[in-house]
Order: sequence, then structure tokens, then C-alpha cells
Amino acid sequence: MVVETVATAVWAMFPAYIPNNVAVLAGGGRPIDAGKTWNDGKRVLGDGKTWRGTAFGTAAGVVVALLLNQLHPVVDGVTAFDLPVFPLHAAVALAFGAMLGDITASFLKRRTGRERGASFPGVDQLDFVVMALLLTAVVATGWFFETFTLPVVAAVVVLTPLLHVGTNAIAYALGLKDEPW
Ligand code: CTP
Ligand code: MG
Repeated sequence: MVVETVATAVWAMFPAYIPNNVAVLAGGGRPIDAGKTWNDGKRVLGDGKTWRGTAFGTAAGVVVALLLNQLHPVVDGVTAFDLPVFPLHAAVALAFGAMLGDITASFLKRRTGRERGASFPGVDQLDFVVMALLLTAVVATGWFFETFTLPVVAAVVVLTPLLHVGTNAIAYALGLKDEPW
């Protein structure tokens, strides 16, 4: 059931796909690292990771999960398979995990001498997936293993970079983002 696997992957990851995009729109203000540098003289995270972007991004991901829960009965009547419903702790873990993955990537970018906005191929596309899945596995273990079966995880790993590249290219074309990655 390829359709079911792909549909489950996209549905279950939606709350993790939204936060980074909303952070781009809502970001600004105080950087999380408060301007501090690491012992290598470079910024800990950089000006691209702000409290406001992180808070709005996380909140948006949770709201999306709750909206999908509302939509669930409607979609369920149409599809032959059962899509997941998000318990609140899973929604928060997916959304905050996505932001945390992006923040971790910035930390790694700065440690490897990459300036703000520099690309880090592979990391840029999957950072938020890895951390969203890890955090959800820890916080909502039962729900995680019920939802993210091996084929679903495989679909997420294949589809996410494609969706990510696509949405970032659109955000760049619209002038919302400074770089297309
Ligand atoms: N943003 C934010 N807070 C976050 C993530 C993103 O405020 N936690 C906002 C910032 O305005 C940032 C923009 O979204 O500049 C784009 O995000 P991203 O590409 O992740 O950051 P970069 O500025 O490219 O910085 P980095 O090199 O650290 O990824
Ligand atoms: Mg960037």
C-alpha cells in the first residue's frame, strides 16, 4: 500500500513541516544565543535562530496537528485506510523537535565555519526530521511506533528533502527567504 504509506508519512509529519516555514515569516528579535560566541570565536547559533521564530514556529506546528485532528473524521470517511490522530504531547514533540533540529543544524554550521545562511547539504534537508522523530519517539513512544512504521519512516526520509527543497524554492522566489535552501 504505497498510497497509504505516503499519505501517513505526509500527514504524520505535517506538524513538523510547518514550524520552520512559520519561523521564516515570524522570525526576528532577540537571538536565542543572545549574541554570544562559542570558544571558537564564532556565534553559538547566530542571528537566524530567534526566540520569536522558535515560539511561533512551534505553536503553528501544534495548531496544524489540532486542525488535522478536526479534519480526521472527514478524511477518514474518504480513504480506505486510517490516518493518525495526534495526541497533544506528540504534536508538541513533532513541532518543537523540528525547531530543535534546525537549531542543532545551525550550531553545527557555526562549528564548521559556515556563516549564517550558508548551505549544509543533507543537514539542511533532514535536520528537523531527525530531531522531530527522535523527540517524538522519546515523548510519545507508543504513538510513535504505532504511526512511524519502518516503511513510513523510509517514505519520510525520501519525501522530506523533496518537499523541503520545493517549499524553500517557493519561499525564495516570493522573496520571503534570502537563500533557496
Ligand atoms: N528563524 C527564526 N528562528 C528559528 C528559525 C528561523 O527566527 N528558530 C528565522 C530567521 O529570521 C532566519 C530565517 O527564519 O533568518 C530563515 O531560517 P534559516 O534558514 O533556518 O536560518 P538562516 O538565517 O539561514 O541561518 P542558519 O545559517 O543558522 O541556518
Ligand atoms: Mg538558512
